[in-house]
Amino acid sequence: MQAVRAHLIHSPERGRIERIEDALVSFDAAGQIVRVADGNSAPANIDLRSQGVLLPGLVDLHIHAPQFPQLGTGLDVPLEDWLSKYTFPLEARFADLTYAAFVHDALVRRLLANGTTTAVYFATIHGPSSLNLAETCLRLGQRAFVGKVAMDLAGACPDYYRDSDAAASINETADFIKAVRAMPGNDLVEPIITPRFIPSCSDDALAGLGELAASTGAAVQTHCSESDWEHGFVLNRMGKTDASALDEFGLLTRRSVLAHAGHITDADMDLIAERGAGIAHCPLSNAYFGNAVFPLRRALAKALHIGLGTDISGGHSAFLLDNARASVTASRMLEEGVDPSKDAANRGVDASRIDFRDAFYMATKGGAEVLDLPVGAFKAGLQMDAILVNLVDDFGPVEDLLQKIIMRATPAEITQTWVAGKCVSAPMVHPDQSV
Ligand code: GUN
Ligand code: FE
Repeated sequence: MQAVRAHLIHSPERGRIERIEDALVSFDAAGQIVRVADGNSAPANIDLRSQGVLLPGLVDLHIHAPQFPQLGTGLDVPLEDWLSKYTFPLEARFADLTYAAFVHDALVRRLLANGTTTAVYFATIHGPSSLNLAETCLRLGQRAFVGKVAMDLAGACPDYYRDSDAAASINETADFIKAVRAMPGNDLVEPIITPRFIPSCSDDALAGLGELAASTGAAVQTHCSESDWEHGFVLNRMGKTDASALDEFGLLTRRSVLAHAGHITDADMDLIAERGAGIAHCPLSNAYFGNAVFPLRRALAKALHIGLGTDISGGHSAFLLDNARASVTASRMLEEGVDPSKDAANRGVDASRIDFRDAFYMATKGGAEVLDLPVGAFKAGLQMDAILVNLVDDFGPVEDLLQKIIMRATPAEITQTWVAGKCVSAPMVHPDQSV
């Protein structure tokens, strides 16, 4: 048993923020929290009280690992051009396992340093590079879902970067699920079935992957109603929206993570809520590719499970809190944005705003709910996944501390990252605290 003494802030339910001054978090060898008690109720192994505040670890629901090398670039063209001009050529390079391993190691270290304790990854179409990403997460101690990307549709996918046919998409995904589940000592990484998006997959591949989801119980991730082009393409091909098509293929389950979803209809929201599927809200990426602001307040009102995603590299930041604050900004722009068809006194969508409290919830417990993982708050039975945050220029009242962290903390101010009860990253110690 270990016990960490610290000041805590968490959001165990949406809309409720709890600050616990001087707490003792006790957890077992498997990282499971056994008790959260008064700081002086028992001896502590580690005392972090003078080094900042402990928050639950950040949950990033949507990352493309192989796109890390182009993070911050290439956002000058729409999604469909970005894929063929920049992204497919880059991802194709991951046939080279040495290159893949180099990028994966750098990315997982960066995300841990940035406070991401749980990450949901798209890898590439290649089994070996995808497995290397899963191994890298396990080795470096990051909780993760990793998917081998399935994309088989000739014409829609370039010949140099696609599965050879639907059977290959299905069989290679099945092999990958087995390989990840068989990794020795694996208690952190799960496989996730990953049809890239409907436009890149044949009906046969989508149906087979849906059957695989049912037979293996594995989680599912894909892009859903991301942009005008993508949403329209699916309507045209399927005669229905992404969400209802995914549902017919068996790909909309309690374990599904839908990235973006900026164009989902009210009926889609009802269907997604009924299935219990979740949404990875990626506000930075949506600003470039989405052609719409995700109607977050409306989706929250329908009780959808919603967390945040960086969408590396459709989003230009590897720091989830950049997306937390962007979710607040985007909601304000939706509420107050200019609609040229309306006059100045009648613009935007009323009651769209969220604030830092909702953003914090989505970045932690909300993401955990999407994944149905026992993380995201400090409570007996949950895992000890946490970040120590030390705001350097903090002059204000302690009541404002969380808001400041959500709205302006930098990665360097995340000084420790804990996953499953182990400190897996401590990149920087503030000079005031060096011993
Ligand atoms: N749709 C299909 N592939 C991708 C991708 O890699 N990124 C984003 N943002 N959307 C996609
Ligand atoms: Fe994406």
